[in-house]
Amino acid sequence: MQYKIHHSGKGHDYTEDEIAIVVEAMRQADPLTQGKYRNEFEAKFSQYHGVKYSFALNNATCALVLAAQLCQFEEGDELIAPTLTFTSSVYPFIKKGAKIVWADIDFTTRVLTAETIEPHITPRTKAILVVNLYGYLTDMPSIMALAKKHNILVVEDNAQAMGTDLNGQKAGTFADLGVFSFHSHKNISTLGEGGMLVVKDERMAKLVPMLRHNGHTTFDFEREHYWLPAMGNLDMPELNGKMMLPSNFCIGEIECALGAKLLDRLDQMNAEKRKRAIYFIDSLKKFEEIEFHRVDSTRHNYHLLVAYLKDDKRNRFFEKMAYEHKIQVIAPYYPLYRYEMYKKLGYGTANCPATDRFWDNMVSFPFHHWLSDSDFEYMLESTKKSLETLR
Ligand SMILES: Cc1ncc(COP(=O)(O)O)c(C=O)c1O
Repeated sequence: MQYKIHHSGKGHDYTEDEIAIVVEAMRQADPLTQGKYRNEFEAKFSQYHGVKYSFALNNATCALVLAAQLCQFEEGDELIAPTLTFTSSVYPFIKKGAKIVWADIDFTTRVLTAETIEPHITPRTKAILVVNLYGYLTDMPSIMALAKKHNILVVEDNAQAMGTDLNGQKAGTFADLGVFSFHSHKNISTLGEGGMLVVKDERMAKLVPMLRHNGHTTFDFEREHYWLPAMGNLDMPELNGKMMLPSNFCIGEIECALGAKLLDRLDQMNAEKRKRAIYFIDSLKKFEEIEFHRVDSTRHNYHLLVAYLKDDKRNRFFEKMAYEHKIQVIAPYYPLYRYEMYKKLGYGTANCPATDRFWDNMVSFPFHHWLSDSDFEYMLESTKKSLETLR
């Protein structure tokens, strides 16, 4: 079907200045990976987020694989995680040996809270995975306090909420490990793929360069000539007396040059999306059957504009929007426990009633940054008309 407004795979457009940076980096970069543009991107990213250690990677899934590896799960160790999230929030932890324990969301905010996590803590809990879903920054301080009490690591999947903050502290910087995505859909995209891992612990920070690049490191002896032996040393990163096999999760220089430039526009794009979201939400106030999570502050960037539709109206709403108004409203990803993949892994059941109630009645509007004003107004009017006729 040809949509008037489709659910775009591209979160934002590029300005001429951003395109020029890419062209310049294509001309200047040598090498094309792991050079000055990566160093500049990491430094600017760390400064923007007020952190010490940021590591640019080829995507957030790889950042989650590294985060999971740094948690060092042993047989029987548990990870508490939401089932309402994108798949790569969770399966990297299964790959690295964690046993998954599903936790429910808070119905209003659609993210985990200390209250929904606490009942799942056992002596085997090694880590908690928190996801700042749809662009909303979770109540991280209370989760960090809970984790501290029980000596548990926390990983913050901030793939969707980059640039948001809570009392001035940026999303993705609260936990022991913070993960960011620059995928095509995301708040800023480094040409389709890209990610960042933020690390608090200095010991972990020392290992990430080796873990992301094949175990490469420097020789610990003086070489008489640079060619004997050539290049660098190879070693096994070691944490808490345990060795870890490395990977190649590096990102290219052109992507890094663009990423650094995009940081200048992140706040503006977030503010523009939030302003639109609040206007949309407020314009639908009289329709009590549709409920949004309204947050008019920098704690939400409305990466996605989602809503809960009461009274089993969802399917008829989809039909009206798609067939009558040609607008592609969707229900993005299942709760993970419902997928075949998770069933086959032994995680096919979950006691998460708020997740089920929300997901079974939720809709996600097309909400890319480049949506035109006229299309946005058309979507708002079409939503009103659809809701009217469903009454
Ligand atoms: C919550 C969440 N976590 C992780 C990812 C994985 O990001 P990437 O595509 O950069 O690997 C995504 C999206 O793609 C996501 O939305």
